[in-house]
Order: sequence, then structure tokens, then C-alpha cells
Amino acid sequence: MTYTSLIFEKSSPERQGYQFPRLDVEALDINQILPKSLQRTSTPILPEVSEVEVVRHYSNLSLKCFSVDTGSYPLGSCTMKYNPKINEDAAALPGFTELHPLQSVDTIQGILKLQYELIDRLSKMTGMKWGTLQPFAGAHGEYTGMKFFKSYFDKMGDTKRKRILVPTASHGTNPASAHMAGFDVVEVAANENGQVSLADLEQYLDDELAGIMLTNPNTLGIFEEDILQVSHKIHDAGGLLYYDGANFNAIMGKTRPGDMGFDVIHLNLHKTFATPHGGGGPGAGPVLVAERLVPFIPQPDITFDGVSYDLSYDNPDSMGRVSGFFGNIGVLIRAYTYVIVMGCNGLQEASEHAVLFANYLRVALKEDYLLPYDTICKHEFVISASEIKEKYGISAMDIAKGLLDEGIHPPTMYFPLIVPEALMIEPTETESLAELDHFIEVMKALAKKAADDPQSLHEAPINTPIGRVDEVLAARKPKVRWCPQEN
Ligand SMILES: Cc1ncc(COP(=O)(O)O)c(C=O)c1O
Repeated sequence: MTYTSLIFEKSSPERQGYQFPRLDVEALDINQILPKSLQRTSTPILPEVSEVEVVRHYSNLSLKCFSVDTGSYPLGSCTMKYNPKINEDAAALPGFTELHPLQSVDTIQGILKLQYELIDRLSKMTGMKWGTLQPFAGAHGEYTGMKFFKSYFDKMGDTKRKRILVPTASHGTNPASAHMAGFDVVEVAANENGQVSLADLEQYLDDELAGIMLTNPNTLGIFEEDILQVSHKIHDAGGLLYYDGANFNAIMGKTRPGDMGFDVIHLNLHKTFATPHGGGGPGAGPVLVAERLVPFIPQPDITFDGVSYDLSYDNPDSMGRVSGFFGNIGVLIRAYTYVIVMGCNGLQEASEHAVLFANYLRVALKEDYLLPYDTICKHEFVISASEIKEKYGISAMDIAKGLLDEGIHPPTMYFPLIVPEALMIEPTETESLAELDHFIEVMKALAKKAADDPQSLHEAPINTPIGRVDEVLAARKPKVRWCPQEN
């Protein structure tokens, strides 16, 4: 294990990496600028290092980062796929980077056209009427989606409808978004195939039902075969359907949420549409809606009269703004570029490959790991380390740490909660056959190691800059800044 010293540990008194230019104006008295209460009383403790030390320190740290550009990243549901560099070139064009969000509309026609066309294309791909690009992430899109539900029922005077259904395997952000938007969340059970249980659903179909939030394929990677029945039942009971589009990369060009009966959908552009993410950002979670929900679209809406583009605030039923300006423009430009470069056939092929690759891994790995739902999957699937744990004491976490030693990012772990010792694997369409075979080889070797030498897996990882950490302590008492007294 190689230890990287902190920049503070490299500090040496009076060493400098930067010199300010000589002051060529009269110095101001600090007391005239800042009240005493806001002035610091002690000198800040900063590392004192030379320019070359700073450059080497951060260059070395960056080499320790794992990313989609350095290795495969089969993180189920999170879709960490390769992001083509042409997207970066487009986002870096000065015509985009030098814009200011407060410019007048006649000077930002290009970026408005891009947004208008992106909404149009996403609407067509999802089978929706129109939408907004403002939300900054999937969860923000979900919250906005729930606000659509709320605006709709308020307008209909149907204020009794407070109940939102979510499947037991739903992503944690779904119930959180519904709750934040003021709804009561109720879980619907899964049937033996890992899909929404129609029998369980039946009991909630009354005049308090606001709707259901679903992702399809669901978080087990399984397509909800009864989706048309689900949507008919929800609509007949007066509810609405929300589609969590984080898994849209499984169905692009194959089927559309609108055709399944969904009323509102968010897409994670930072997953399906190949824009970089990880570590919390940046993202974009556009929301697209069916015709009857268009009146509630956040302001400003982007319009086109056949000649020029405009920002419209002329919508009395709008829910108002959901972001300060236009959303994460850089992400939107990358996603637009991806859609244009791929074209309809390319997007369809991406989904076909994502599904094919997931099934290739699924079939190969079920020889060594428990596959609780043994059925054709879409773009991801869930295996379980529960048998290995029972026999040899090796958990999903130990397998994940073993993968780190082999230079592979672990799959999503311990989710969905209905599968004990879950490993949720999503290879994505961007890996080669050789890389998929390598992953299979490593996973099989880890299963063998669990039986032959379990202790070595308890000790993994040993090839990473940091070894096994106390994850509970790290989560409960995170140390996110350096303090001199502790060192
Ligand atoms: C199924 C599903 N829904 C929603 C989200 C939330 O998206 P975001 O992380 O952009 O908020 C995720 C993210 O992992 C997801 O996998």
C-alpha cells in the first residue's frame, strides 16, 4: 500500500507557490471594508509549499482516482459508461462557455435552440408531449415530477389524493422525493418474479391514490411484464404514473414509457445520455410529461414560433421555477451531442448491447453465485453472495474489496434490499468482449478464493492506496478536513 502524504505534511515554513503582483493601487483599511465581527482573529493555517510541490501533489492524487476512463465500472443502476470525448469538445465551445444566463433572449438563440430541440427529441423518445430541462439530478427530477402530480390534483380539486405507491425494490430517492413533495408513501410488494404484485396493488386503488412511481426495467433489471395492467388499474382509480427513467438505457428505441401509460418521466442524462457523473455531480434530470400535464411545466418554458426562440412566463398554472436559471447547461450540451452523434439507430443499438452484455455476464456468473431471479434481464442483473457467505463467511463486501485489488470498480452492493448480499451488475454497452470476459474471470476467481483462502478476501484490498476502512465509523464520524490538533 502506498501512502500519500497530505499537502499539510509537505508544508515547510515560508515556502511559496505563488506571488501576488506588486500592489499598484492604494491599500484600503480593512476596517472600512469589513466589520470587526467578520474579521478573523488568527492567521489561517495553510500549507506552505512551492508550485512544483502543489502540481506533483495533485497530479499524484489524480492518478489514484478510479474512473470510467481508467477501468470498467459495472455499478448497477448508476450506469457509469464511457463518455465520448466529442461531448466535451461541444461543451467547451466558446459560443456556449462565454454565455451569461442573464443575457437577453435575442443574444442566446443558439443555446435556446439546443434546449428546445433536446426537449423535443427526449419527448419523442419517451412518448411524452413536452418537458423541462431545469432539474439538476434524477432525484430533483423526481421531486419536480411529484410537483406535477400535486399541481394536477390541486387543479382538479382532488386534494384527498395523497398516497404514492413505490415497489419494495424502488430506488431510495423515489419515496424520499414523494415524501418531500407532501405525499404519503406506501410500499407495494413484489411477486415471485421480482415484479410488482398486482394482487397487492389492488388494495390501494381508491380515491386517496395519487399514483405510483416505477422504474422499468426495475432495479432487479427485470422488465415489468404487467405494466399495461398496472397503468390501466392506476388510471382507472384516478391516479397517475411516474416513470423513474434512470434505467432508460435498457429500452431506448425499443419501447417508450408513454406507450406503457406513464404520465411523467425523468431521465438521468448523466447516465443514459453519456455525460460524466460520480461523486455527486454534475447531473441533469429533465422531466417530460403527457399532454394533460403540460400546463404545469416549470417557468420559463422554452418556445419557438417558427422564426425565433423565446422564454415564456405566460403560463398561469405553471409550478414556477425549479432551478435558478436553465439547469446544468454543460450536461445538456453533452447529452444533445450524444443524441445527434448516435442517431436513432445508434441509441437503439446502445440499448441492445447493454442488454446483451448484461445477459452474457448473468449466464456466466450464475455458475458461481446465487442468481435469485433467474430470468432474461435487461441492462443489469442482481446476484447474491449469500450462499458464499453461509459456506465460507465471505460477504458481498469482501467480493467487492477483492474486485478493487484487480483494478475493477465494484458493482452496486446491498441494493435492492429484497436481495440479501446483493451485487447489482451493469456492464453497460461500452465495454469490449475482452473486458467482459476479464470481469467474468475475476469474479470466478474471487468465488474460488472465497472457498480456498477466505482470509485473504477479508484482508482485501491490498493493492489500493487505502486498505479496508471502518465504513461505519467513516459514515458516522466523517473526517472531512484536516485539523492541526488531531495530527
Ligand atoms: C433507479 C434510480 N432512480 C433514481 C436515481 C437518482 O438519480 P440521481 O443520483 O441523479 O439523483 C438513481 C441514481 O442512482 C437510480 O439508480
